[in-house]
Amino acid sequence: MSARVMAENQPASFAFNAEMQERAKKIVAKYPAGRQASAVIPLLDLAQRQEGWVSRPAMERIAVMLEMAPIRVMEVATVYTMFKLAPVGRNHIQVCTSLSCWLRGSNDVVKSCKDKLGIGLGEVTPDNAFSLEEVECAGACVNAPVIAVGDDYYEDVDYASTGKIIDALKRGEKLPPHGSMTGRDNAAPAGEKTSLTDDPTKPIPKQDFAAAKAAFEKAKAEAAAKAAAPKA
Ligand code: FES
Repeated sequence: MSARVMAENQPASFAFNAEMQERAKKIVAKYPAGRQASAVIPLLDLAQRQEGWVSRPAMERIAVMLEMAPIRVMEVATVYTMFKLAPVGRNHIQVCTSLSCWLRGSNDVVKSCKDKLGIGLGEVTPDNAFSLEEVECAGACVNAPVIAVGDDYYEDVDYASTGKIIDALKRGEKLPPHGSMTGRDNAAPAGEKTSLTDDPTKPIPKQDFAAAKAAFEKAKAEAAAKAAAPKA
């Protein structure tokens, strides 16, 4: 279960920079008058993209912008693990340990991260290069277990593939393309297909509805005749 604790050390204030302020303005304008609070998640996301995490002053600023009670913004920010409540490392690794990922081996994935980074969940390396976080369902259960590096999801990971990703990050190398680490085709079954086995690129054979209707009518007439026939 991921811990949702706001950082003890908070900045004195927060303000969106000019670019983010402009983006925030456009996001808020998408909602009808009186419904600006609906922009709370995208604005929290903007604050995080600017600062790397969401501080209490950022939440308070967003509350003012959206005419919400600050506690309402805090409720949203503290419930979703996508929002970081404390500063994170330059490479922030999130490991999903919710049910599907746990059943498919997230304990091994967490161990791989700890072994490679020498830190525990919720910790940052001394050089600030990495941070490790346990998160709730990342919404990619079908390809569990899943880790996220920044905005990218690496799916179908295990001890070894997680270690390779971290090694590549340490060496500053280009990471493998995100997605399944086992070569699975998007969210197709991990093994053989058991359904939808037809080639979707082939045209669907035309059905002869007239023949099907004639066969139905014939069967209906036969059943009626059989029912009307005198019992032997
Ligand atoms: S349980 Fe891990 S992505 Fe859903």
